[in-house]
Amino acid sequence: MTLTERDVLNSDQKNQLAITREALSTARHLPGWMYTSEDIYALEIERIFMKSWLCIGRVEEYENPGDYHALRIAGEPILVCRNQNGELNAFNNLCLHRGVEVAQGQGNAGEFMCPYHGWLYGLDGKLVGAPFTKEVEGYDFKNCRLSQIKIDTWGGYVFINFDHECQSLADYLDEDEVREFAAFLQPESTRTSDKFVFELPCNWKFVPENLMDMYHVGVIHGSSFGAHFPVNNFKYNLREHGYNAKYESFTMAPEGVTLFDTMPWLKGKVDQFFACTTWVRPTMNIFGRHDLIQPWVALPLGPQSTQITIYTQLPNEFFDTPGFKEKNQVYADFIRLVAEEDRGMMESLQNAANSRAFSPGPTVKLERAIHHLLNYWLDSLFEEDPKAAAQRRADGAKALDEMTKSAAAS
Ligand code: FES
Ligand SMILES: [Fe+2]
Repeated sequence: MTLTERDVLNSDQKNQLAITREALSTARHLPGWMYTSEDIYALEIERIFMKSWLCIGRVEEYENPGDYHALRIAGEPILVCRNQNGELNAFNNLCLHRGVEVAQGQGNAGEFMCPYHGWLYGLDGKLVGAPFTKEVEGYDFKNCRLSQIKIDTWGGYVFINFDHECQSLADYLDEDEVREFAAFLQPESTRTSDKFVFELPCNWKFVPENLMDMYHVGVIHGSSFGAHFPVNNFKYNLREHGYNAKYESFTMAPEGVTLFDTMPWLKGKVDQFFACTTWVRPTMNIFGRHDLIQPWVALPLGPQSTQITIYTQLPNEFFDTPGFKEKNQVYADFIRLVAEEDRGMMESLQNAANSRAFSPGPTVKLERAIHHLLNYWLDSLFEEDPKAAAQRRADGAKALDEMTKSAAAS
């Protein structure tokens, strides 16, 4: 059964959301309860995280047979592992006996032994041992395996999907032209030089919203990469669910000066101020500069708690250059500084969401992508409102029209 807004929202709440669904120039941001409510969070897990392709890492984290990671994604324990045949699989990390997680942490394993009563599983998830169970009747030990979760890769990123009926990853990405837009960045030709994982006491939606927010860059990041970030006529190419953009910015290093070089495949094609971004719904924002690729991935831990992973990716050939370690540390320190600047803002957004006095303010033109995103959240969570859908399409067409006119004028 499809829930309607009427089933989960009272009329006052429905009226508040109707304001966010108006055109950009008259809309308001979302009300605080959208970021604090347990009911809304439960709906988000069911309708967004259990239905979407979710980035959970990089292919190079699973180089050899037996390489594995045990993760909890949207509360679900999963085990990702490369088997003896070189295939990458994802399983529900739930022992077939009582559900204890059969693998913990990460590493390389020949098999997985449940730490509770010792049931044993192969790298392909097959149950290969269950001590003291001879007398059990009507249980087919020989044909048992951990249940599988859909897994696929693109650009060197590993994605999973909890929905067995889901569309292919390729089709999913193509709905927002992600593959086409990001192809020139060649993420598959890069390696992770730094992985920064941290938790934030805020709702997961604030992370992609903050990362689509071009309005804040010159202010909160004014002394880091925002020192060169012209936003006049910023061009948002709104797609079905999100957007992509090419713009100007310092690279993510002090004073915007690269310590490496332009990525070989971008040489002669972009200058030192080249920047781009594309969004992979629901929570992956990929940023590109002339010398690196830097995706942020947010995964929910609870209504007011989120895990963020920031990958820094560099061309394979940079790793063997002189002074790589020291230079890479400068980049690693810089992204932590930038993340710290954002962290304070996202925590403050969450405080506001919890405040009785908070009343959401207007969405401005530089928040065009956020407004589009807020409406995507609403479309995903509730029954589609034809008037709101038409409004979103009209706003996308308007953004495209403005882009075309400004390109013709320049
Ligand atoms: S819960 Fe795993 S062996 Fe008992
Ligand atoms: Fe920021």
